[in-house]
Amino acid sequence: MEIAEKVRTNFEFAGCDTVELAKEYGTPLYVVSEEKIREQCREITQSFLKKHQNTKATYASKAFLTLAMCKIIEEEGLGLDVVSGGELFTAVHADFPMEKIVFHGNNKSYEEIYMAVSHGVGRIVVDNSHELDMLEDITNELKRTVKILFRVSPGVKGETHEYILTGQKDSKFGIPLEGDGILQVVKKATNSQFLKLMGFHFHLGSQLFDKNAYILAIKALTNLMKELKDKLSYETQELNTGGGFGIYYTNGDKPKSIAYFTDAIMEELKIQCNSLQHTVPSVVIEPGRWIIGNAGVTLYTIGAVKEIPNVRTYVSVDGGLPDNPRPALYKAKYEAVIANKNNQPRDRVVTIAGKCCETGDILIWDLETPEINSGDILAVLSTGAYNYSMASNYNKLPKPAVVLVNKGKSDLIVKREKYEDLIRRDIIPKHLL
Ligand SMILES: Cc1ncc(COP(=O)(O)O)c(C=O)c1O
Repeated sequence: MEIAEKVRTNFEFAGCDTVELAKEYGTPLYVVSEEKIREQCREITQSFLKKHQNTKATYASKAFLTLAMCKIIEEEGLGLDVVSGGELFTAVHADFPMEKIVFHGNNKSYEEIYMAVSHGVGRIVVDNSHELDMLEDITNELKRTVKILFRVSPGVKGETHEYILTGQKDSKFGIPLEGDGILQVVKKATNSQFLKLMGFHFHLGSQLFDKNAYILAIKALTNLMKELKDKLSYETQELNTGGGFGIYYTNGDKPKSIAYFTDAIMEELKIQCNSLQHTVPSVVIEPGRWIIGNAGVTLYTIGAVKEIPNVRTYVSVDGGLPDNPRPALYKAKYEAVIANKNNQPRDRVVTIAGKCCETGDILIWDLETPEINSGDILAVLSTGAYNYSMASNYNKLPKPAVVLVNKGKSDLIVKREKYEDLIRRDIIPKHLL
């Protein structure tokens, strides 16, 4: 009877009792719902890929990438966007179809480009003329044709934290639309023997809720397409409109369906192409957070509970900034529950602190909770995106394990790091032995 009571009050995620997960796998623990990931992919398939002809979707793997995630994305029929040799290496090891890979990055190294060309990735999104020169050398050497897009910065400012804005004029990403830089690179690419210029890419930023920024960017891009057609007889075949679609983290976030953005993008593109007498290019989207963000929760064990009279109560957990740097980095906000007291009234307010030696290592300010005791399990919600993938070993904390959950079953997909892993690559020079 007592056990049944207990189970009923525990927080469940994808049919799993999170308190039992914490017991079985330890904490901190990233828990990821397979069903939620698949649901999001299927919404993209139904509301975008099947609804609009000549479209593709790639998952922005920087949000969360493991071998198992590659398998799920492949099964759902989406492509994969990677931004480094390491992300590409992961995709290669998961046997992800290389023609469905889009390779990004604002400062790709020669080795990374070489690797991408050798593996035959589907698209390389070229960020700048330095990269274009390297890519030309490499394709000439390997005698391999590569399909490319140019990343442009459309000069559009979305509404989000400035650190996750990317499409504004003053940005390290892409080629500005002003000046003749873009004309120069298009000329060069179209004259190159092994480069096939498919079109252009923009990404406006992350955690965006308003379609207007996308509409403005489409206007800027279609003007560019028209200019290139008139001046260079170059016809754009493909437009990659990036990701950035916002999700729910806390009260005040108003997430939209994928169709809210993609219908607007498609409609504006058709209107502009019609009026400029340009054929409508194929359209690619590349959401990351929108696919994985709400599919993850992180479980922590509560340790010290410190009440500072008339100030606040600090509740410390066994992780923090190293497994989730977003609050410190972007002032990101999260909701959370005490997993083993999920049904109890939340009659007090506490601050959830990480265990790092940084005053700024606070996961959540002013969280409403029931009474808290050390040993309770905290579940922070919506941690699927940019948590595991941004994790560090600061303070030499081993990185948490990742568990994939589905309909009450769980599978370990990334093992917890051990202390030995933390010094595995250290070398003591002879003179210090
Ligand atoms: C080029 C590019 N595409 C897609 C994304 C995915 O963004 P989000 O996770 O907000 O959808 C990013 C994120 O930084 C990006 O830089």
